[in-house]
Amino acid sequence: MGNQIVNGRDASASPSKNADRDRLEFGNAWAYAPSLESTDHIRIPARHELFIGGKWQAPKSGVYFDSTSPSTDEKLSEFAEANAEDVDLAVQAARTAYDKYWGKMRGSERAKYIFRIARAIQEKTRELAIIESMDGGKPIKESRDVDMPLSAAHYFYHAGWADKLEYAFQGRKARPLGVAAQIIPWNFPFLMAAWKIAPALACGNTVVLKPAETTPLSAMWLAKIFEEIELPPGVVNIVTGAGATGEALARHPGVNKVAFTGSTDVGKKIQALLAGTKKRLTLELGGKAANIIFADAAIDQAIEGIIGGIYFNQGHVCCAGSRLLVEESIHDLVVDKLRDRIATIRIGNPLDKNTDIGAINSRKQLDKITRLADAGERDGATRFATKCDLPAKGNWFPPTFFTGVSQSSVIAREEIFGPVLAVMTFRTPEEALEKANNTMYGLSAGVWTDKGAKSLWMSQRLNAGVIWSNTYNKFDPSAPFGGFKESGFGREGGRQGLRGYVEID
Ligand code: NAI
Ligand code: MG
Repeated sequence: MGNQIVNGRDASASPSKNADRDRLEFGNAWAYAPSLESTDHIRIPARHELFIGGKWQAPKSGVYFDSTSPSTDEKLSEFAEANAEDVDLAVQAARTAYDKYWGKMRGSERAKYIFRIARAIQEKTRELAIIESMDGGKPIKESRDVDMPLSAAHYFYHAGWADKLEYAFQGRKARPLGVAAQIIPWNFPFLMAAWKIAPALACGNTVVLKPAETTPLSAMWLAKIFEEIELPPGVVNIVTGAGATGEALARHPGVNKVAFTGSTDVGKKIQALLAGTKKRLTLELGGKAANIIFADAAIDQAIEGIIGGIYFNQGHVCCAGSRLLVEESIHDLVVDKLRDRIATIRIGNPLDKNTDIGAINSRKQLDKITRLADAGERDGATRFATKCDLPAKGNWFPPTFFTGVSQSSVIAREEIFGPVLAVMTFRTPEEALEKANNTMYGLSAGVWTDKGAKSLWMSQRLNAGVIWSNTYNKFDPSAPFGGFKESGFGREGGRQGLRGYVEID
């Protein structure tokens, strides 16, 4: 499973003049020899129990489920499926830890534990990156260079807040909420755990975390880190399972706060479940971000940003720039360049250090991407995909974009959550704005222009929580992240993110 794309075997029918020329002139210049990350030192236990009250506990349900590697279809390990009784034990453990010590502990003491988590993640970065890529399918260069360093950064950043909360809220006193139920998705398993756990702990809450059923492995490594740094028992509990486990957790009366990242459908269900209760809720849901490129932009730089914006992490990114709005006068140029650029993207084994695009996380997600891309064609759009040999086993989808997409097409409206870009045009900034905001989502947007004033004008009017200017998908723990409209509410990261985990007097 090495490089599949520009390997000289695909001399057939590339629509791109430049890519054909490169192939003729440079032959295999883009073909890298495989460079596999070694997995010899990784020992994955055959079975994982629940992490409750600082102990590994067999589930009362007696049921286990498998997590596989989406790039090989091989089973990696078994995980306990927590039922309502298991969830209850986890919530009780979190409550005891909160009442007995964590809720009362001085912020400066909590900070020490959170710092230790960050340090332990740094020490184990390589191993964590490997298991993350094995379980979820993302390329090792992303898990190694993005997910793990950013996760450590989130714990470092929030450790810094733990004893400074009075400064975060202008002299008002901040009190923890109690037990936080945190339900996370499969696209950034370890990072989403960090985004949720770090602020909760910094603010003095205890946690019950439920990872996604296709990617529970790195959460088990996180539990081992908690053991190693001697985090007091029950401060973070981890219950594995699927939707029913998540629902039992959100529903539990002993929970004071629910934080959810995932699909808009499930977000709505949770919101309905919590209606009439005093539970606090933050939701980080889907997106259909517009990446807007003006004729005066630095085009090559923009192409890199657009490519990264949609193909990063197989497009399994809620803030992915999945709609490209191009100023009409540069449409053909941009499309040519996109076509050339996607021909050089390497898709394949996530553990190969040269891989740009790894495996689609699950068969279910692959089916969704395939269905929506086919619908795009039926709606009259023109499909471009790299011609490449995809590995025989596992779930794969080639980098794809559509031109001639109408605003009403399903691929312009629905979150595909895969490596599929919809290209549309505009003539004036006003039109770009109208089209960009014409969505039920509002998580993120990108603006590419040489003119600072235009960029500011656009960003003041775009209905999106995060707006990047002449860049895309840049993250920092100090910058709040979150959406408008059906992308959810509440913020994660920054001073604003603390607000979701405190009561202020
Ligand atoms: P999902 O929303 O079903 O899963 C996310 C998490 O919620 C998982 O941990 C899951 O076990 C849990 N969950 C499922 N049903 C639940 C319920 N009734 N109550 C409580 N927790 C529940 O997402 P799914 O089905 O894996 O992906 C479907 C689509 O959702 C994707 O194609 C994508 O469009 C979107 N999505 C968005 C994400 C984001 O980061 N905003 C992340 C994952 C998916
Ligand atoms: Mg898996």
